[in-house]
Parts: sequence; structure tokens; C-alpha cells
Amino acid sequence: MSIRSVIMIGAGNAGFHLGLRLYSTGVNVLQVFSRTEEKALRLAGQTASRWTTKLRDIAPNADCYIIAVHDDDIGQVSETLYSNPPLRDKLFVHTSGSTPSSVFKPYFHRYGVFYPLQTLSISRPADFTDIPICVFAPDREDEDDLFQLGQTISRKVSRIDDEQRAVLHVAAVFVNNFANHLFHIGHQILEKEGLPFDLLRPLIRETAMKVQEDDPSKMQTGPAVRGDRATIERHLGYLEKFPEWKELYEMVTKSISV
Ligand SMILES: NC(=O)c1ccc[n+]([C@@H]2O[C@H](COP(=O)([O-])OP(=O)(O)OC[C@H]3O[C@@H](n4cnc5c(N)ncnc54)[C@H](OP(=O)(O)O)[C@@H]3O)[C@@H](O)[C@H]2O)c1
Repeated sequence: MSIRSVIMIGAGNAGFHLGLRLYSTGVNVLQVFSRTEEKALRLAGQTASRWTTKLRDIAPNADCYIIAVHDDDIGQVSETLYSNPPLRDKLFVHTSGSTPSSVFKPYFHRYGVFYPLQTLSISRPADFTDIPICVFAPDREDEDDLFQLGQTISRKVSRIDDEQRAVLHVAAVFVNNFANHLFHIGHQILEKEGLPFDLLRPLIRETAMKVQEDDPSKMQTGPAVRGDRATIERHLGYLEKFPEWKELYEMVTKSISV
């Protein structure tokens, strides 16, 4: 059996983009759920689907149910869905990098993961062609179906089990969330000193571009990798006024130097 129809449970950043992309590749999005009418309507309107704000109204006729709610709420949402008997034999997947698929185990016997490894925001377009889709299901047939579904929306589909995905997510937090936090600190420093963040944007772009071509360690520049102690001391002197960032600077400098 292949997956021809889905129901999107969650229409926030991930649910919105996944739903839209699946619809645009010919997958039938039968229904959209979000707690708020506005979000449910926004995706339903663009995928010609029905919508609801109530989990108890989720229809039982889809091939696959994609749960794209906050990581911590996947269990509770599954429990609510389980209370609707016609849903119990259906295939449920979540879209979380860090949540094990076993979160479904108390409720469903067909379950898995459909994780798009990208930062997704409703306010920004998403080009799914190159977004890695990590699929997993304990049942081989279900996993094959998820793999096929992934291939309808992306050229980069991988079978990644729970353990591998957890590791992948740790690495993703470093390269995305932490890197972005460092951009934020740069932004704050310039703002406090009355300088425009635009001055740093080309540098950020080039940093991200360089690692597309080679190992990041070969691309490292700056005082830490050069062992330029006098410059580091000057920076630390400036950062006296931002003790938290000074500590972070020292930690990252040490990590680069070893
Ligand atoms: N955004 C990303 O970059 C990204 C990338 C890959 C994977 N993911 C994964 O995708 C999942 C969703 O993340 P997101 O960024 O899309 O979150 P989000 O933008 O906050 O959207 C969450 C959605 O779930 C609904 N929801 C939240 N808590 C709920 C609950 N307790 N019961 C029922 N519905 C609930 C929200 O409804 P309302 O807002 O209408 O109340 C909304 O539709 C997470 O597992 C995340 O790890 C996210």
C-alpha cells in the first residue's frame, strides 16, 4: 500500500510547509487540524482540505496521520486520538527530530517518523527538493511507504532510526540553533554600539557557503585558530561589560583551540 492521502495534525511551521508540499506533489490532504481556527484555515485553504480545531473530529479515512505538534505534546495528542476507535489501525507519524517513535507505542501499532531536517517558518518559503527527509517505522512495509512519500517531496530521503535521529538532532542544534544564537549576540553587540547588523550579513552568508564545499574545521579562521593571544585578550577586555557573552567567548575559543 502506498500513501495517497494524509491528515495534518498541527498546522504550525512544520505542519504548514509539509502539508503544502505534499499537496503540491499530488498527495491528498484530506483534513487539517490546528487548535486555532486561523492556522487550520490557512493550511486548509491552500490544500483544498477540510479543517477542524477539535482532535475528536479527526476523520478516519486517511492513509497516514502526520502529527506536527510540539515535541512534548505528541504523547498527549496521541492519547486523545486513540480514544477514537476507527483511528487505532492507522499509520501515525510525528515530525520531531528529538522524540523517539516509541512515544506512539502505548497507543498505536502502526507508527513512525517523518522528520524534515530543516528550519521551517511559515513566514519563509521552503524549498523541499533538498530538504533531507528522515523516515523510520518499526514495520518495514510502513517504512517503505514513508520512504516513498518522502521521495514525492524531496530528493534526499534517508532511513534513520531513533538513535541516529537523536544524534542528528544534537548536531542540528549546534549548527542551527547555537549558530543562530551567536548571530543574535553579534546583533546585540552592534545594536548597543550603534552599528548596523547589515555589516555582518555578508560574513554570515560566506561562513555558511564555505562549509558547503569542505570540512568546517578546514574553514576556521580568526584569533582562536591562529592562537592570536593579544587579540583574544583585547576582545575579552571589551566583553567585561557582557559577562555572560565573555564566558561563552572563552568557552568557544577554548573549544576551537584544542
Ligand atoms: N519548525 C521547524 O523548524 C521544525 C523542523 C522540523 C521538525 N519540526 C517538528 O515539528 C513539530 C512542530 O513544530 P512547529 O515548529 O511546527 O511548531 P508550531 O509552529 O508551534 O506548531 C505547532 C502546531 O501544533 C498545534 N499544537 C501545539 N500544541 C498542541 C497540543 N497540546 N494539542 C494540540 N495541538 C497542539 C499548534 O496549534 P495552534 O498553534 O493552532 O494552537 C500548531 O498547529 C515539532 O515536533 C518539531 O520538533 C519543526
